[in-house]
Amino acid sequence: MGFLRSTALLAALPLALAQNGTNSSTPNPFNNPGAVSGQTSPPKYPTPWGEGLGDWDDAYAQAREFVSQLTLLEKVNLTTGVGWEGEKCVGNTGAIPRLGFKALCLQDSPLGVRFADFVSAFPAGITVGATWDRELFYQRGYEMGTEHREKGIDVQLGPAIGPIGRHAAGGRNWEGFSPDPVLSAVAVHGTVKGIQDAGVIACTKHYIGNEQEHFRQGGPNLTSAISSNIDDVTMHELYVWPFAEAVRAGTGSIMCAYNQVNNSYACQNSYLQNYILKNELGFQGFIVSDWAAQHAGVASALAGLDMTMPGDVAFDSATSYWGPNLTVAVLNGTVPQWRLDDMAVRIVASWYYVDRDTNQLEEGPNFSSWSQDTFGFQHAYAEEGYTRINDHVDVRNEHRDAIRKVAADGTVLLKNNGALPLSGKEKLTTVFGSDSSENPWGPNGCVDRGCNNGTFAMGWGSGTANFPYLVTPLEAIKYEVLSNGGSVESVIDNYAYSQQAALAHRVSQVGGACIVFANAAAGEGYIIFDGNEGDRNNLTLWDDGDALINNVASECNNTIVVMHTVGAVLVEPWYEHENVTAIIWAGVPGQESGNAITDVLYGKVNPGGKTPFTWGLTRDSYGPSDVIYEPNNGNGPPQDNFVEGIFIDYRYFDRFNETPVYEFGYGLSYTTFSYSNLQITAREAPSYQPTTGETPEAPTYGTISNRTADYLCPEGFEFIFAYIYPCLNSTDLRTASNDPEYALNYTWPVGSSDGSPQPRVPAGSADSLGGNAGLYEVLFTVTVDVTNDGEIAGDEVAQLYISLGGPNDAVRVLRNFDRKGIEAGATETYSFDVTYKDLSNWDTAAQDWLISSYPKTAYVGSSSRKLPLSGPLNIAGSPGGYSPPGKYGPPKQRYVRH
Ligand SMILES: *[C@@H]1O[C@H](CO)[C@@H](O)[C@H](O)[C@H]1NC(C)=O
Ligand SMILES: *[C@@H]1O[C@H](CO)[C@@H](O)[C@H](O)[C@H]1NC(C)=O
Ligand SMILES: *[C@@H]1O[C@H](CO)[C@@H](O)[C@H](O)[C@H]1NC(C)=O
Ligand SMILES: *[C@@H]1O[C@H](CO)[C@@H](O)[C@H](O)[C@H]1NC(C)=O
Ligand SMILES: *[C@@H]1O[C@H](CO)[C@@H](O)[C@H](O)[C@H]1NC(C)=O
Ligand SMILES: *[C@@H]1O[C@H](CO)[C@@H](O)[C@H](O)[C@H]1NC(C)=O
Ligand SMILES: *[C@@H]1O[C@H](CO)[C@@H](O)[C@H](O)[C@H]1NC(C)=O
Ligand SMILES: *[C@@H]1O[C@H](CO)[C@@H](O)[C@H](O)[C@H]1NC(C)=O
Ligand SMILES: *[C@@H]1O[C@H](CO)[C@@H](O)[C@H](O)[C@H]1NC(C)=O
Repeated sequence: MGFLRSTALLAALPLALAQNGTNSSTPNPFNNPGAVSGQTSPPKYPTPWGEGLGDWDDAYAQAREFVSQLTLLEKVNLTTGVGWEGEKCVGNTGAIPRLGFKALCLQDSPLGVRFADFVSAFPAGITVGATWDRELFYQRGYEMGTEHREKGIDVQLGPAIGPIGRHAAGGRNWEGFSPDPVLSAVAVHGTVKGIQDAGVIACTKHYIGNEQEHFRQGGPNLTSAISSNIDDVTMHELYVWPFAEAVRAGTGSIMCAYNQVNNSYACQNSYLQNYILKNELGFQGFIVSDWAAQHAGVASALAGLDMTMPGDVAFDSATSYWGPNLTVAVLNGTVPQWRLDDMAVRIVASWYYVDRDTNQLEEGPNFSSWSQDTFGFQHAYAEEGYTRINDHVDVRNEHRDAIRKVAADGTVLLKNNGALPLSGKEKLTTVFGSDSSENPWGPNGCVDRGCNNGTFAMGWGSGTANFPYLVTPLEAIKYEVLSNGGSVESVIDNYAYSQQAALAHRVSQVGGACIVFANAAAGEGYIIFDGNEGDRNNLTLWDDGDALINNVASECNNTIVVMHTVGAVLVEPWYEHENVTAIIWAGVPGQESGNAITDVLYGKVNPGGKTPFTWGLTRDSYGPSDVIYEPNNGNGPPQDNFVEGIFIDYRYFDRFNETPVYEFGYGLSYTTFSYSNLQITAREAPSYQPTTGETPEAPTYGTISNRTADYLCPEGFEFIFAYIYPCLNSTDLRTASNDPEYALNYTWPVGSSDGSPQPRVPAGSADSLGGNAGLYEVLFTVTVDVTNDGEIAGDEVAQLYISLGGPNDAVRVLRNFDRKGIEAGATETYSFDVTYKDLSNWDTAAQDWLISSYPKTAYVGSSSRKLPLSGPLNIAGSPGGYSPPGKYGPPKQRYVRH
């Protein structure tokens, strides 16, 4: 249905609409013709077939051999989930019993194994992003992957990089790393590598434009879901950027999002899936739908979807857009065999790519998502197959150490008037706020963490895991103070104003510290907490946090504020208060919360985290684009026009001279650093060559008989209630399909079943992942020396920003960074590569990355606004805008700054 409407729109509207924007530059903010209501993207067919590009060749060879042996029903079984709660994982494909190929288990989440016991609750993405630490990105990924592997999971549904964080109030931003595409890209790259090195397929999500929770799946009175209307430049320079890096890292799967993009559902949007992901980025794995994000059978197959989850049309409807319908669609010739074969090859190739053949547990998943009991139903919805469902395997290993390290290293020191670190010799240490303490209902007492009792260490929704324990800040601080022989008291009731004031007052008499904890939560839209439908309704602290802080600070001249929040909050009511001597953002830390914050407060860890988003003074500081809370298009899909283009977060603040409270990339240390000796070296690189040529023709594997009788469901087979099987209940295809619209005279999009060789796109590749290999050629290396001028060792994240120089470019964009530990008095050299892509703009006409003729400048420093060193990146460009072949600048040219 959605597909039909989109096709009609496509015919009626100029195809160029979504591609407009001036060449080689981003559209003018807030006058963006590429982001208007009702717009569409051009149709792009056929779906590119996987070729085994990059390092996927072995996996493809094995997958082709395997898929060649499969029957039609067996192939379909790989593509379709068995239905919600049909098996033990949140998503389960069919199996191929004849060849001993087990059903694939897909399980949430981006921060650990959801719905299981004896697993770790890792820090959430936003805290990981705040570490800016490549090694930790990888290590956390590897450890999460290990836990999934040991629970018998094939696909971890993470990492999340969409939403990227367009809106400060967006409900799921905390699951991802940062609203900056480069920080997000580096983090997702390491995470994907880590998960897959552990032998589990990563599923990078949600593709794409899923920037708010409201209306992502429509609404009570809406005909369809919200449409994120995004122009081509913004799509490439911002939203797709981290996905390109996930593809380069080899992500085995990508999850398409609930929302529509340019008025076509993400999971059946041929422009997003066929053209950008599979053609331009050369994605070799499989696209899986978000749960019930599929809205049509044939249309989604032709637009590039490879797997539907959980498999049924609606949860437990016992019907499927695929399953028998896909079998029928292949038999009636609507979906070509090569397209089905491509789905199967992509799925099986991902499985081989991460070595599932040696990493899969013989017994399959050793836990059930639907019950914590040892015995229960294998098929929870059907209540069939009573058996042992939970082995309670403890998969945590020694992961607590890295969890504590990530949480501490991702902690950002925002203000420090010398109050920190604490010595441990304070006469009286006091702790305030419900955010310091235990959830009286237990750490897992609220379903999918959908409440805010006690300390906040994880957002709510599907992006969660059960806590194996949660060390609260109060517990850890108490332990620390007591082991120093000190005295500690607390008031954890946010509304016990007189008790708070009395305790704070005592500190003013005897000396010591008042540590105040406050928070702000958010989550996924299927849970509405305190009126917040996933997205936050406000950007203030929750539960009267501002009053708590001001109340304590009015009595205590050493008030240290610690915030556990999903993102920026408005600190205006107290951040300049004379008695607020230190402010810490402790993010979304996971199970080791208390230990990590205590490490920082007492100087066992010298903070080195940097804020991965901008802190504005008011909500308006972020600009006019905000979450859409009310439908704006009658009963039609709300139209969310991304008019601000690339100007989100710090790019908006910089462009519109908005002064942040704490700028992107900012964070203090207990020591100080100075920057010197910037050197910019041009590197010799082959000239950028747009990709040309054609693909091979679409391969098919094995032959499919068109005798419908071969596909009848076997008699005497014990079918599980409401389960999706690939077989047919009738030899009459119309009857088997049971689709009231069966064989209506649809015209499928031109070229959608064409398996002949197809032209490659300029930004794409015939042999590499993530697009044209020339994009990743290094044109410059920038080095800088950073000296630790203080008395103690510390970590510094040096950051490289680039001005692309055009009138529609951001003032500066982050392009590289590194985190290093530096001993007191020592100097470390940081080295940053600058690639062709780093210096390019997306050119809508060329459909390629081109370097404009505007002067380019590199800036290096400790935050997006503390950039003491800069120098030109001299590119011998043609006035036409980009470098002619062979010339990127005078070879070996050097710029030296001291
Ligand atoms: C898009 O660009 C084309 C060609 O320049 C122009 O004719 C058309 O009016 C533009 N559309 C919009 C919406 O700006
Ligand atoms: C499809 O998968 C289901 C569930 O694993 C299994 O029972 C069935 O036998 C499979 N069908 C075929 C044709 O292999
Ligand atoms: C849906 O429409 C009905 C009838 O017009 C109205 O009463 C109801 O409030 C609407 N619901 C929402 C969530 O807008
Ligand atoms: C086939 O898909 C249609 C929706 O397109 C659905 O109504 C029908 O129930 C499906 N058939 C089966 C057998 O699941
Ligand atoms: C082929 O089968 C699919 C799936 O049931 C159905 O949607 C489509 O209308 C059918 N087309 C023709 C031409 O029979
Ligand atoms: C825990 O959270 C729930 C849901 O918000 C709330 O109703 C309940 O009062 C809270 N319990 C305690 C003890 O704080
Ligand atoms: C903001 O929302 C939170 C959570 O719903 C609530 O606790 C708080 O009181 C709200 N702040 C204001 C100023 O209304
Ligand atoms: C700061 O704390 C002291 C107590 O140490 C108190 O007397 C003073 O009023 C406080 N300042 C403010 C602005 O509240
Ligand atoms: C706070 O007040 C105490 C007691 O009057 C005093 O000893 C201490 O130096 C003050 N601390 C700060 C940070 O001003």
